[in-house]
Amino acid sequence: MSTLTDTRSSLQWTCELPDENATCAFARHLADLLFPGAVIGLIGELGSGKTFLVRALASALGTPDSRFVNSPTFVLIQEYEGRWPIYHFDTYRLKHLRDFVDLGVHEYFRGEGVCLIEWADRVQAVLPEERLEIRIEITGPHSRRLTLTAFGERYVQLVKGLQQTWASFTEQKHTSSAEQAAAEQVFE
Ligand SMILES: Nc1ncnc2c1ncn2[C@@H]1O[C@H](COP(=O)(O)OP(=O)(O)OP(=O)(O)O)[C@@H](O)[C@H]1O
Ligand SMILES: [Mg+2]
Repeated sequence: MSTLTDTRSSLQWTCELPDENATCAFARHLADLLFPGAVIGLIGELGSGKTFLVRALASALGTPDSRFVNSPTFVLIQEYEGRWPIYHFDTYRLKHLRDFVDLGVHEYFRGEGVCLIEWADRVQAVLPEERLEIRIEITGPHSRRLTLTAFGERYVQLVKGLQQTWASFTEQKHTSSAEQAAAEQVFE
C-alpha cells in the first residue's frame, strides 16, 4: 500500500515493505531511476535498515561485492564501485558538523557519484536543498515503512517514476500469487 502527496516543489510518498526481499526489490527499482550526482539522506532509528538499504542499492548499482557495505566504526565515509561511484556516509559517531563539512562533502554532493547518507537528520543543515530523503520506520520484525520526500523537481520526477514502477511491480506480484493460488486450488 502507498500514498502520494504532491506539493509545488516537494513530494512525499509512503511505501510499505513487508520483508527484506521487498526492500531489495525496492532498491532495484530506485537504482534504475538514479542519476549521477544524486543525494539520498537516510533517517531511521538504530537497526531500522539504513545500511541494509545502502547495501541493496550498492548491489543494484553494480557493486561487485556488496558484503563490504557496512557501518564502519571509525570511518565517516566509504566508497564503492558501481555504475557510478557510490559514497556511503555514516554520521552516527560524528561529533561536530564541521568534521562532516571538512570531509569535503560539498565536493561529493556536486560530483558524479551517488551520495547515501545515514543519519541524515544529524547533518541536515549542510545537505543540498535538492535531495531525496528516505525515512525508515520499523513496523514489524521483518517489515518496514519508507517515507520518501523529494526536494526539488528532479527528485519529484524520480519519486513519481518510482511510484509508477513500484505500483506495476506489486500489482504483477499480486496477480501471479492469485494465479498460483487458483492453480493450487484446481489441483487440490
Ligand atoms: N524489510 C526489511 N528491510 C530492511 N531490513 C530489515 C527488514 N526486515 C528486517 N530487517 C533487518 O533489520 C536490520 C537492519 O539493520 P541495519 O544495520 O541496516 O540498520 P541501520 O538502520 O543501518 O542501523 P544503525 O543505525 O545501527 O546503523 C538487519 O538486520 C535486517 O536484516
Ligand atoms: Mg547503519
